[in-house]
Amino acid sequence: MKKVLILNGSPSGDKGNCAVFIQKVHNLDKTLNYDVVHLAKTSISTTLKKKIAAADGVIFVTGTYWDSWGSPMQKLMEEMTDMEGTPALMGKPCAVMVLMHSVGGKSVLSRLQGVLSTMGFLIPPMSGMVYSLVSDIALKSKNTHAKDFWQIEDAELILENLKTAMSMQVTWTTWPVDKKDPRRKWFR
Ligand SMILES: Cc1cc2nc3c(=O)[nH]c(=O)nc-3n(C[C@H](O)[C@H](O)[C@H](O)COP(=O)(O)O)c2cc1C
Repeated sequence: MKKVLILNGSPSGDKGNCAVFIQKVHNLDKTLNYDVVHLAKTSISTTLKKKIAAADGVIFVTGTYWDSWGSPMQKLMEEMTDMEGTPALMGKPCAVMVLMHSVGGKSVLSRLQGVLSTMGFLIPPMSGMVYSLVSDIALKSKNTHAKDFWQIEDAELILENLKTAMSMQVTWTTWPVDKKDPRRKWFR
């Protein structure tokens, strides 16, 4: 079974909407071996980095908070900087799932995918979605436009694409990355 690490970037951790969403994603495909980490409750340690390195694929889940991803997700990005361009990340397939009430989630999705790609992750086609409270309410009534709304079931398709990407064997080229302390002072 392929190992899929689900990283929950919600500040509410296992008590929030993202945690419920993750549970639903679990139930969509039982052929994968999931491990869920609620970042709000977890320190970004060597153990977590080893988990990321050992995973065949990673699913990043976050809500939208003032047009951005959750602060635990941002903390992860900052602390993962030393993994940029390393074999632990190069070409590792990832999916991104974003929740929101009404606005800002698509920008969070696209920007997060951009960051992850720059770090070395592989973004398979149709591997990201935004699910909103607005859609959740709208989808309760039948409408011919419904197919154009992201729905929970789209997560199933995303898992399929993630699985396809995880079965690929590709050798990627890595550009040189400055491995010195990224926090060092440059402005004098
Ligand atoms: C502090 C805060 C800021 C939020 N900002 C936005 C926003 O900018 N746009 C939006 O559509 N929803 C916004 N929301 C709604 C959340 O994205 C949404 O409820 C999400 O499902 C939260 O997941 P969680 O409960 O796991 O944290 C915000 C919620 C909080 C608590």
